[in-house]
Amino acid sequence: MPAEHDTRPLGRSGIHVLPLGIGTNKWRRADRGAALETYRTIHDAGPSMIDTAESYFSERVVGDCLRTGPTRAVIASKFLPLPGRTSPRRLIRALDGSLARLGLETIDLYYVHYPLPLIDLAMFAEGLVEAVKSGRARAVGVANFNADQMRRIADHLARASIPLAANQVNYSLLRRAAETNGVLDACRELDVALVAYFPLASGRLTQASNSMVTKALLMCLADIARAHDVSISQVALNWLLARDSHVIPIPGATKPDHARANLDALGWRLSETEFDAIDRASAKDET
Ligand SMILES: NC(=O)c1ccc[n+]([C@@H]2O[C@H](COP(=O)([O-])OP(=O)(O)OC[C@H]3O[C@@H](n4cnc5c(N)ncnc54)[C@H](OP(=O)(O)O)[C@@H]3O)[C@@H](O)[C@H]2O)c1
Repeated sequence: MPAEHDTRPLGRSGIHVLPLGIGTNKWRRADRGAALETYRTIHDAGPSMIDTAESYFSERVVGDCLRTGPTRAVIASKFLPLPGRTSPRRLIRALDGSLARLGLETIDLYYVHYPLPLIDLAMFAEGLVEAVKSGRARAVGVANFNADQMRRIADHLARASIPLAANQVNYSLLRRAAETNGVLDACRELDVALVAYFPLASGRLTQASNSMVTKALLMCLADIARAHDVSISQVALNWLLARDSHVIPIPGATKPDHARANLDALGWRLSETEFDAIDRASAKDET
């Protein structure tokens, strides 16, 4: 389990979280017992980020978990922009809906789920500013924004003295576009957290054999996993953590054992040689 002090900042928001959070988009009410146990596992580890969205059914399940008592977890949810649903007023109304489902007065981090073509980013920025100024959100972020969109929305927010806390993008050993499309560089330059979704490539990086991953990468991960007496998924998560201190992966887990195992990826480090070997082996797998 990680040490309490081992946290990463959500940009310049003043909020610190454990370097690994959890994605909940598969949490279901039917599995309430498992969701609650998974939540307790995460909660007991420290200030973990729990990721949900108004478009996930899990927002209600996370709300059920939060109603069991005071929490140390850091809660993040997302506004779903749709054509005709982009105004600052609609964003605030959506946030009020999320807060009600979660049973919170203030959310720690509120994202815009993705940019919409032809919609002025100033519209979203205005809504996010109002979310913070009204006390509904402690910090704000975006998801699936490219580097240019990130810089533009960060500029808008800066005019109201609000930092962009995070950009949540698809990032794993099988999807390394953030390293070459400017998003990771922009996160470093603007001091914004890169929250990595699909960090286990939707489960493809959890199995010793998978037809969608090259043998070279799987063998490399398996050899390193054996040397540290850990699992392949722990090696894959550890690599993302070592890649850059702005990266905060949010592996999805519906099983408490998976959540526990993922947190254990925090208790050790890859050597530089191991990091480089994975780097080389994964280059061939990129999509
Ligand atoms: N912003 C966006 O546009 C966006 C888009 C997609 C997803 N997301 C967020 O990102 C989160 C992560 O995505 P994801 O859950 O689809 O993909 P993922 O994290 O890459 O993979 C999750 C899969 O890996 C399994 N798993 C997790 N830990 C494991 C372990 N230690 N050992 C073996 N298997 C393990 C899970 O199984 P179990 O479920 O059985 O535990 C699940 O099948 C989502 O929950 C969501 O919050 C955001």
